[in-house]
This record gives sequence, C-alpha cells and structure tokens, in this order.
Amino acid sequence: MELKSFLIEHWLNPMDSLAKYNFGSSCTKAMTMDELFRVTGQDQDAFMKELSTMSLHYHLGDSTGSPRVKAAVVGTYPKSNITPEDVMMMIGGTGGNDIVICGLLEHGDNIVVFKPTYQQHYDIPKSLEFETRELVLREEDDYRPDMDKLRAMVDKNTKLIAFSNPNNPTGQTMYDDELREIVEIAKSVDAYILSDEVYRGMDEEYMPTILDYGYDKAIALSSMSKMYSMAGTRIGWIITKDKYAYKNFENRRSFNTICCGIVDEVIASVALENYEKVWARARKLLTRNKKIVYDWINAHPHLHVRGDAKGTTCMVRYDYDISSTDLVEDAMETAKILLVHGECFEMPGYLRIGYGAFADEEKLHEGLAALGEYLKKYDAQMK
Ligand SMILES: Cc1ncc(COP(=O)(O)O)c(C=O)c1O
Repeated sequence: MELKSFLIEHWLNPMDSLAKYNFGSSCTKAMTMDELFRVTGQDQDAFMKELSTMSLHYHLGDSTGSPRVKAAVVGTYPKSNITPEDVMMMIGGTGGNDIVICGLLEHGDNIVVFKPTYQQHYDIPKSLEFETRELVLREEDDYRPDMDKLRAMVDKNTKLIAFSNPNNPTGQTMYDDELREIVEIAKSVDAYILSDEVYRGMDEEYMPTILDYGYDKAIALSSMSKMYSMAGTRIGWIITKDKYAYKNFENRRSFNTICCGIVDEVIASVALENYEKVWARARKLLTRNKKIVYDWINAHPHLHVRGDAKGTTCMVRYDYDISSTDLVEDAMETAKILLVHGECFEMPGYLRIGYGAFADEEKLHEGLAALGEYLKKYDAQMK
C-alpha cells in the first residue's frame, strides 16, 4: 500500500522561513547555543574545549546512545522506575515513531490509534497494510478518549495502542486516571503502548508519563524538539523495560540509524541535565502566549476551541464556508500568516494554531491582529 504524503511536514517545511507570523510551528522558539548556556548556567568555554577534542567516530560499544545522554534522559523521569539500559536514542521523535511501529508490528497484528494525532501513528501502519483501528477523540468530548470504545476495540491481535500525550494537534492531555485505564486495557490483551510525549512538560505540576504505571510493555517517546527548543539537534529517544521490544528496535535502528550524531547528543545532554531550567523557559513563553491566543479566539464568534491545551498548539473549528487547505494557503500567500490546515489531521474545517514560536509578545499581538484582519472577508460572508 502507498505511503501517503506527510502533509504537515510538506506544508510547513518550505513555508516556515517565509512566514511573517508563524502560527504553524509546534515548537517553542528555538534556542541558540549561547542561549542554551545562558539558560542552563553551564560553562560554555569548557564545553567548546571538550567538543574540540572529541573523537568524531561512531559511538563505540553501546551504539544506542552515549552513557552521558542516556543518564541525562533518565533524570528527566524522576517518578519512573527506569535505568539507562531502558533508553534508546533516536533521530528525533520521528525516528522513534517509525522504529517502534515498524519494529513491533508483525503479520496478523492490528494497531489502535487515537485520532487526531501525528500522521506517523496511523499512516505508517496503514502503508504496511496493518489493520489500523481509529479511536476518534471528539471535539464535543473535549477530545477525551471514550474508554468503553477503546475496550471494545482491542482484541488478542492488538499489538500496539498509540497516541500522543499531550495531543498534537489539540493539546488535550491525559493524566493519571485515564493513563491507568489505558494501561489496564492494554494489559487485558497484552498489547504494547506507544505514548508519544514530545510535548510533555508544559504544566507546572508534574505531568505523568506512561512509564509511571509499572507496565513493562509501555513505551514512552520524546525528543529535544518541543519543550527543549532544540529541534535541529534531531535527538529523540524511546524508553521501555520490555527486552523483546528493545532488541527489535535496536536491530531495526541498526538498519537505518546505526547511532545518533555524537555532537548532537552532547549538546542535548547539556539541556537534559538541566531540564527544569529549559522547561521553565518554554513554560513561561507558552503559558503567556496560550492565554493571549485563547482570549483572542474566544473573542471571535466564528472560531471555536475546546479543551485545555497543554502542548504548543490548539485546534480551532471555524464556521466559514471554505476548505481549510484553501484558507491556509490563501492566508500564507496574501498575508504571510502561517497556519496548519485541519486536513493534516483528517479534520477539514479546522485550523491548528501554534503559539510557541513567538518569543516577543508584541509580535504575537501583531500576528493575531493581522489574522483577525485577514479573516474579516470570511466574517463578512457570515452576516
Ligand atoms: C506528536 C509528535 N511526535 C513526533 C514529532 C516529531 O518531532 P521530532 O522528530 O522533531 O522530534 C512531532 C512533531 O511535530 C509531533 O508533533
């Protein structure tokens, strides 16, 4: 079966640098190297010296990640019973999702996917002709999963239950009660869980990970791209205590990765070892921007947002009679306002609005004013 076009990546990548107002990105404003050292308070000169004498060979010994970066990843999961042996570094969260899905599914298996989510979670298994069962997260339920439906959807051939938490695009987040229930349901059919947690950390309060519930078949995935503001390092990871899965992932990874970039891993280690400071920078920006964006949306009668986003984006339904692809392409072409069309998540009639890219509050206000001005032509048609 054909692998579908990765819509969001193909839309955003060429547009990102052309946008005047970037509501398309799901990252928090990227740090520079200088900023990384300022934020973490580490010694930049000593780091640069260390870097200059580092061997640029592959990782020798354990290619799944340097001892330093794996220990640093473990430190960011203070309530989970994990060790560096459970961690495998990946080329971004994207590399991790691909390796987990392709590394686990076998002939006869099915996968259950919560939707909307990142396109990899359903279009990779579909392209490999695995039965892909979709649990739709509905706007009228504030995008919360219906556990009875999930229970009815899994069976003995369900190998994997996959979702993003916090969710991309809605930002909806599952906490203890829901995560425990998902673990119980997965256990009942002996399925693995892939919890893509690249947006975890926005809440001031501790945000649970799927690793917190003592289920060995839980697989947590994350990366440096969102809360760490370092997408260009292309460093991600998966964590699982399940030895069979780990071995499969390691083998598949040998075919397409060998090891991650060793310079990238060292830079990522600095942020991971000081993750609370790096997350605090992202949280400050996201909390401020989210309020501004939500207030703006709520003041627009033809835009509707539900749930309480805990990621970097929210999903907005609009009343206008235009496809979201047309609206988004026109907004970019005529006003250099970058948005994401709902079609990227198979949700026509919706727009994904990201609020992490604006470090400057004034620029965010200016961008929203420009978006309001742009939408006036559709508002006028509603009268
Ligand atoms: C839920 C989710 N997972 C994974 C990724 C991939 O990110 P990266 O490969 O940069 O870690 C993204 C990117 O937007 C995402 O939203």
